[in-house]
Amino acid sequence: MERFFSRDARNFRPSAIRAFAKLINDPNIISFAGGVPSPETFPAERIAEIAGQVIREKRSVALQYGPTRGLPRLCDFVAGICRSRGIDCSVDDVLLTTGSQQALDLIAHTLLDPGDVVLVELPTYIGGTSSFYARSATLEGVEQDDDGIVPKSLAEVAARTKPKLLYTIPNFQNPSGRLMTQQRRAEVLRIAAEHDFLVIEDDPYGELVYVREADTLAMKSRDHEDRVIYLGSFSKILAPGLRCGWIVAGAEVLAKLEIAKQAADLCSGMLDQSIVDEFTAAGELPAQIARVRDFYREKRGTMLEALQEHFGARATWTPADGGLFTFVTMRDDIDTAALVPDAVANGVAFIPGAPFFVDGTGRNTMRLTFAKENDERIREGIRRLAAVLRTSVGAASHSDLDSPRVPRAD
Ligand SMILES: Cc1ncc(COP(=O)(O)O)c(C=O)c1O
Repeated sequence: MERFFSRDARNFRPSAIRAFAKLINDPNIISFAGGVPSPETFPAERIAEIAGQVIREKRSVALQYGPTRGLPRLCDFVAGICRSRGIDCSVDDVLLTTGSQQALDLIAHTLLDPGDVVLVELPTYIGGTSSFYARSATLEGVEQDDDGIVPKSLAEVAARTKPKLLYTIPNFQNPSGRLMTQQRRAEVLRIAAEHDFLVIEDDPYGELVYVREADTLAMKSRDHEDRVIYLGSFSKILAPGLRCGWIVAGAEVLAKLEIAKQAADLCSGMLDQSIVDEFTAAGELPAQIARVRDFYREKRGTMLEALQEHFGARATWTPADGGLFTFVTMRDDIDTAALVPDAVANGVAFIPGAPFFVDGTGRNTMRLTFAKENDERIREGIRRLAAVLRTSVGAASHSDLDSPRVPRAD
């Protein structure tokens, strides 16, 4: 069959972390491995009620084909969300998509020729890299530190590789949980202008904030030349099964993306859009977001406390001031993938970090989500993970384990 596959299909890469799906759903295993929101945050009864209502009363919209751009009232609502994130936009600047994952695919399809260079953060979201690989792009990594993308690294890689695009997740990144500072956002845009590449700003986690001082203002709020293509999503604040995301971009790019979307699916699911539209038009989103924040804030606190208690100086981790993840960095010579079998045997699962790094580094890192488990299981899981680390790396002297290697800043 191989001979029938397209060049792009030959470059498809299966998700390196899908293999962990089994572990994530095994009730006997305390799982920090998932990458999905907790079903406990979904307003299921309300969604059921609205679904029944739109199916019965609005069948010619909810069960019919719709405009490729999306339901006009929902597009207008989304433009309002974006304005609240500092972006100067109106309903005409919005294209609704089947989750922001489709947005990534449409952008890759519309902008990338085989061999074009896309810059991605080290580490980055695997769904993003899959979309770029699927168009036979060449991916180059850019260093991050705790303030976000390191400008020196971005400028150096851009000068060397002449990229067409940078893909960035400035707010509580998946997988690192980091928040890029506003100063870094400005520097990233300056470098993008200097080297003339576009920026995809992917922002599904910006509303999931657990601290007061986090500045999540969109990078696109600083964009005055249509250089930034901004992506948002209802997945993490409402429910990912509703597959409702969006793109905000300049008119020329958006018109092309709309044609790409016509070819892909004509329009996103109208039942999904109708449900989200009624929910948002009824003014229910702010209270829902507040509930979601409260739900994760506690769990995040529990995980950070447990890490402090059981990992102490043996690792460093990101503060997870928002989003769903903390990212743990261990001593340079520890390969976290090799710890997985022992961890699973001890009833705890995590995602090793290496698949998130396009340059093959990151073997001493792991991604932990606090979204799935309750406080008690989070504490117990971190305790078990620390014990696995202690025994598996037991060959090394204890004092070695106790001296942390702080990740390099740049
Ligand atoms: C950074 C990032 N972008 C995009 C997505 C896809 O989200 P959606 O459900 O909107 O397609 C995810 C999902 O986890 C994500 O973490």
